[in-house]
Amino acid sequence: MKVLFVCLGNICRSPTAEAVMRELIQTHSVDMQIDSAGTAAYHIGKSPDPRSQQAALKRGIVMDDLRARKVSQEDFKQFDYILAMDQANYQDLLAVKPNDASAKVELFLKEYGTLDKKDVPDPYYGGEQGFEMVLDLLEDGCRGFLVRHGKL
Ligand code: 4NP
Repeated sequence: MKVLFVCLGNICRSPTAEAVMRELIQTHSVDMQIDSAGTAAYHIGKSPDPRSQQAALKRGIVMDDLRARKVSQEDFKQFDYILAMDQANYQDLLAVKPNDASAKVELFLKEYGTLDKKDVPDPYYGGEQGFEMVLDLLEDGCRGFLVRHGKL
């Protein structure tokens, strides 16, 4: 199974989702390919936001090897699931989804979260607390994804 996490910049939420899922599948020996991308091009080639890295590291999750990229048309054929972090990302993905896409595009927390939130809130312009919230929501959603798909 191939899974792509998508947010706006690919420097805060979706690389964190990728790192959280990477940790989970390593721990539980789950065979899955994961990646992340952004709908916008502003931050292509950049490392994850230092605030995301620091929040993740406090939970033992390393993400300094990840680099931002933009979603491509090819992604819709390469991945089985493309998981949007918020409703704007979801709508942006649907708007560029090619007709022959094989990927299932989903609003991540709506499908897999148990914390009664549909969106992973954009932490970019906020404080440290926002980055903790992102991690709480992503840990819950990633676990939910693996359970739903029979991997945990
Ligand atoms: P992300 O956060 O979508 O979670 O990576 C953002 C990163 C950068 C910007 C907005 C959101 N920005 O406007 O540059």
